[in-house]
Amino acid sequence: MMKLHKDAKSVLISEEQLAEKVRELGAAITADYQGKRPILVCILKGSVVFMADLMRAIDLNVDIDFMVVSSYGSGTKSGRFKIVKDLSVDIHDRDVIIIEDILDSGNTLSNLIKLLEYRGATSIKLCALLNKPDRRTAEVTLDYEGFIIPDEFVIGYGLDYDETYRNLPYIAVLKEEVYTK
Ligand code: IMP
Ligand code: MG
Repeated sequence: MMKLHKDAKSVLISEEQLAEKVRELGAAITADYQGKRPILVCILKGSVVFMADLMRAIDLNVDIDFMVVSSYGSGTKSGRFKIVKDLSVDIHDRDVIIIEDILDSGNTLSNLIKLLEYRGATSIKLCALLNKPDRRTAEVTLDYEGFIIPDEFVIGYGLDYDETYRNLPYIAVLKEEVYTK
């Protein structure tokens, strides 16, 4: 196992726990979409590691696509919704599964769902690796959920603080002194 990063307070979810959860989620999606060809929409950048692992745990033909939406800035609190990079495929009449790293306030996902519904998707399901229910302000229900976590700022496995730590193979709690200084 990799040595804990100096800015991390503790490991919240280990590499092994992540791998097992991804297998479970992949199996659930595989079972639910038999005979279909869903589009996995990865929300960059935070979901890139989760997406790469999850898509290989799904035993179906799938399309993949990517969106960049921003609702965060560089701090630790959610803000406004903006499309920075749009999809390259038409989702009209398609089954869409949104792949997110973390559901926090819910603003990003609730705005995104409205947009994809408006574009005529047949179905839209949400898959998030992490769920921080304490901070929810917009109502969003997950169809596939990895882990429920407490209200702490986490890094690793794609998740950043100020664009750092995305490459850590585990999910850790960031030391408070890093974002209060
Ligand atoms: P929401 O719109 O508040 O649900 O924010 C979702 C986005 O905020 C996620 O896709 C992450 O990019 C970011 N985010 C929320 N909580 C954390 C965290 O604890 N660590 C890193 N990024 C986070
Ligand atoms: Mg982020």
